[in-house]
Amino acid sequence: MNKRPLLLVALLAVCSSIYAQNGASLSISDTSGPLISRHIYGHFSEDLGRCIYDGFWTGDHIRMDVVDALKKIKVPVLRWPGGCYADQYHWRDAIGPRDQRKATVNTTWGMVTEDNSFGTHEFLELCGLLGCEPYIAGNVGTGTPEEMSNWLEYLNYDGKSTLANLRRQNGRDKPWKVSFWGVGNESWGCGGSMTPEFYAMQYRRYAEFCKSYPGAPLKLIASGANSDDYNWTDAVMKNITLWNTWGLSMHYYTLAGDWNHKGSATQFGEDIYFKAMKACLRMEEIVNKHASIMDKYDPAKKVALVVDEWGIWTDPEPGSHPGFLYQQNSLRDALIAGTTLNIFNNHTDRVKMANLAQTVNVLQALVLTEKDKMLLTPTYHVFDLYKVHQDAHSLVLKLNSPDYTFGGEKIPAVNASASRDSVGAVHISLVNIDPSKKATVRIALQGLPSKSVQGQMLTSAKYTDINTFDQPNKVRTAVFSGAKKDGGDLVVEMPAESIVVLELK
Ligand code: AHR
Repeated sequence: MNKRPLLLVALLAVCSSIYAQNGASLSISDTSGPLISRHIYGHFSEDLGRCIYDGFWTGDHIRMDVVDALKKIKVPVLRWPGGCYADQYHWRDAIGPRDQRKATVNTTWGMVTEDNSFGTHEFLELCGLLGCEPYIAGNVGTGTPEEMSNWLEYLNYDGKSTLANLRRQNGRDKPWKVSFWGVGNESWGCGGSMTPEFYAMQYRRYAEFCKSYPGAPLKLIASGANSDDYNWTDAVMKNITLWNTWGLSMHYYTLAGDWNHKGSATQFGEDIYFKAMKACLRMEEIVNKHASIMDKYDPAKKVALVVDEWGIWTDPEPGSHPGFLYQQNSLRDALIAGTTLNIFNNHTDRVKMANLAQTVNVLQALVLTEKDKMLLTPTYHVFDLYKVHQDAHSLVLKLNSPDYTFGGEKIPAVNASASRDSVGAVHISLVNIDPSKKATVRIALQGLPSKSVQGQMLTSAKYTDINTFDQPNKVRTAVFSGAKKDGGDLVVEMPAESIVVLELK
């Protein structure tokens, strides 16, 4: 008997099983879906630790190095002043001559004195410099509808009134036309420990006095659920006035452990890495479940799901103030950002805004500062790579991913999203979270432009790699040349633990 055919079959079987372990296939529909709102690429900056004070603000001016870095990634929207701090914030404490502003205590974050040198005018100047839209979270917890409606008049009224005149006296003639407006924050917890039914009644009352001034239509955002608290979403959607609601928020943080054992930002092994990735991927399930509850009350999808706090939350850096939430940022965190943004891009029919927590020096920051030095974190580079998706049309994907297995558990190794921009270029963002296996992603090119294929990549030798003030460019983007045409397909060889963004023209 001739044994050669058998040998060939055996060889082919071995090859195809290797391919099955490392190979992914992706097909992309050529019909454009809903727009990926640029606001999905939004950020969040709270009066917390060194985010504003020492991050954006020196005490008398805005740091232009930080502004210039953030302009490059096209920050579309910035949320402020909290977070939890929003519900203890009284806007009048932080307007007028700086030397006459009230000193207050930040009882939420670190029990430190706030000199309030950064207030409404400074925040809106910052947004102007960044070229982004402001998103202000109003105070429901310790505020009143009167205080909130006065703030809006101060911000947005162009005519003559005592408050509009006070704004002029404080140096701003024209109204800012702030549109995105949060009615409280985490009202189930730090925002007032309310039940959803009680909050819904508060929302109705506050919303009634939040007026849209001429030329400044308000987009009201109701305070939403804590991660998988679906009951909150159900009860709030059922009881609030949907006609004057633009969005409902939801907060979900990636934890590698639990709230009492979050783990180090820099020292961790694959067990913790795997847990963090698994937790990050849960965003998909959480978004889907909140969205389907919203569908019940709002089948036309008029109300946006606003994920206005997300990101990985680790232990603070040793030696830093525990209330300041200062954490380093590794390649792992960049993979979390890339994966989460892919999830948002793929749910753009309901998710219309998201805000990473928090821009500078706090939690999953884009920028870290130390005196007059500044560095860009691995997460910053993800936002730089992904900015091509802003306001592009989402494309529907079908992805078959190999598994990333660890400790008897498995999660998809590869995730992706794609969009077509206004000039017809297609961008595909791919993340391979497997820390030791490369992935071969075979993309069917049918219906996609393919005259020119270019790519950029973010990876590093270890998932714990970070950028430091001594070595600020250890984790950075590089040109990617691992995509090759093969017949009607594009074959993309992704290194382990990498993010690749391709541009097809
Ligand atoms: O981002 C830090 C805190 O996390 C915010 O202040 C709060 O809204 C959330 O619990």
